Amino acid sequence: MEVLRYIFSCFSSSSKSSSHQLWSSGASDKNKAMVEQLQRYKIIKSSKVAEVMEAIDRGLFVPPGASPYFDSPMPIGYNATISAPHMHASCLELLQEHLQPGMRALDVGSGTGYLTACFALMVGPHGRVVGVEHIPQLVASSIENIKKSAAAPQLNDGSLSIHIADGREGWPELAPYDAIHVGAAAPHIPKALIEQLKPGGRMVIPVGTTMQDLKVVDKKQDGSVSIRDETAVRYVPLTSKDAQLRG
Ligand SMILES: C[S@@+](CC[C@H](N)C(=O)[O-])C[C@H]1O[C@@H](n2cnc3c(N)ncnc32)[C@H](O)[C@@H]1O
Repeated sequence: MEVLRYIFSCFSSSSKSSSHQLWSSGASDKNKAMVEQLQRYKIIKSSKVAEVMEAIDRGLFVPPGASPYFDSPMPIGYNATISAPHMHASCLELLQEHLQPGMRALDVGSGTGYLTACFALMVGPHGRVVGVEHIPQLVASSIENIKKSAAAPQLNDGSLSIHIADGREGWPELAPYDAIHVGAAAPHIPKALIEQLKPGGRMVIPVGTTMQDLKVVDKKQDGSVSIRDETAVRYVPLTSKDAQLRG
């Protein structure tokens, strides 16, 4: 019952107060406690995802004044948000087999850089992670955030980079990718992203406008694609920079 209440609080539009009550009843407001809470509720299932979310302190990525360990999206300016911890954890779980050491990942709508940094720790220095974000100020602040985090060495060695670009076009220079994550909701799955997915690779992307589904897109070795709905979600739109800034 408590698990159901927790899950409802994560996904319902009126989630704020109920999720806060459950979160506040946890042991601490620190990053480790947040990870343990996500494990307790079986949102984090694997030790690798727990290890990475413990290593990348969410507090470094959330603007001052916000509550970094509260299970809710937080505004980061420019009509964007950092996604909630349970969404970051769910996406890492869905992608973890495609984020093995040495693999290649693309994070579209990289925002604060939090998930991009987690991807970098998963694939390690012999892998390659690219973040693409269309708001230049967010790209600059995300790089500063990552420099303070456990993923900083990977910015220096070049296995992690963040670029200003329209993520609907992906980042063809380093394609194909084993894993693609899209952090904003697209009206439909962009063709360029399907093309840039490696055979055997997986993309996780929210699709829809008012009603959105988190879709899991698997490309088989023969190049055919299967798509399934994981869960209902609410993300900011994957759109043009002008449309986003107009709100
Ligand atoms: C919900 S935020 C998630 C950010 C990131 N995953 C995080 O948790 O910090 C979505 C991000 O997508 C970006 N975005 C929206 N449309 C985009 C586009 N066409 N190209 C690149 N970035 C885009 C927004 O600026 C925003 O930073």
